[in-house]
Amino acid sequence: MHRFSLAGRTALVTGAARGLGRAFAVGLAEAGADLVLVDLPDAPGLARTEAAVRAHGRRAHVHTQDLARTGELSALADRVRADLGGPLHILVNNAGTAALERYNTITPESWQRVMRVNVDAVFFLSQRIAEHMVADGVPGRIITVTSKNALVAEAGLAHYNASKAAAQLLTETLAVELAPHGITANTLAPGMVETPIDGEFPFDREEFEAAYRARIPLGRYADPDECVGALLLLASDAGAYLTGTRLVVDGGVLADQMPRMRFMPPYRNTVPRP
Ligand SMILES: NC(=O)c1ccc[n+]([C@@H]2O[C@H](COP(=O)([O-])OP(=O)(O)OC[C@H]3O[C@@H](n4cnc5c(N)ncnc54)[C@H](O)[C@@H]3O)[C@@H](O)[C@H]2O)c1
Repeated sequence: MHRFSLAGRTALVTGAARGLGRAFAVGLAEAGADLVLVDLPDAPGLARTEAAVRAHGRRAHVHTQDLARTGELSALADRVRADLGGPLHILVNNAGTAALERYNTITPESWQRVMRVNVDAVFFLSQRIAEHMVADGVPGRIITVTSKNALVAEAGLAHYNASKAAAQLLTETLAVELAPHGITANTLAPGMVETPIDGEFPFDREEFEAAYRARIPLGRYADPDECVGALLLLASDAGAYLTGTRLVVDGGVLADQMPRMRFMPPYRNTVPRP
């Protein structure tokens, strides 16, 4: 298991106050990393994530920041490095935002809000932190949380889908440019995860989720914790030769684009029971 150990490493997780961000922060702490937790100034769950990281005996530095204010991200990276008093090894671009809107109701404001957080912030925070990693000579790890929606379209999410595809390609470009410095950059693309991200639903949520579950080969949404193993692979020495890849954690959704399984004859096992 030494390949997965993050003892002596530092990791920054954006959107750490809840959902996947909290699970990632706690998972990284469990693997031995000290944490920098970033979220909105009024994010209520940040203290809970901080306490969970400390409960694993790791340091937790909290930096509140609206990532949509992209002009401030270079200074945020500099503050984080000064606060750590040493290098940052792992950046997890996890914060993201979504909105469910038909293509012809998306306003320029809504489009830009999604793009600013899901694309612009990912790029400008990675840009400065990668410069630090190069200057500090660390084998850094950049992990951008995208989505299965970076790879396939989904109705009502033109801005979100486009933003995740853009985040994927910018991360892959960083992988190429940073490879000579021994820094890797990869995307982790979840499918459906039990988190509050979708917020207010303009339709019956139970019916919607049941229809979704029926399209997931594993038959259920993921618990945020079920994405942590993939993150630790990308963050640790175990993933040293992985760069520019897309690690999809979706319960099989992308493998099965058509509903044929529903029409298959009942399963019959031909192997006798022991
Ligand atoms: N939940 C899913 O089903 C799912 C599926 C695929 C991909 N994802 C991606 O996973 C990531 C995490 O999603 P989640 O489901 O945990 O979402 P979430 O809404 O539960 O958590 C997102 C966190 O990001 C923070 N955040 C949002 N905008 C911010 C900003 N401008 N500045 C600073 N912090 C900000 C929020 O305060 C929140 O704490 C996102 O990038 C999302 O697109 C989620």
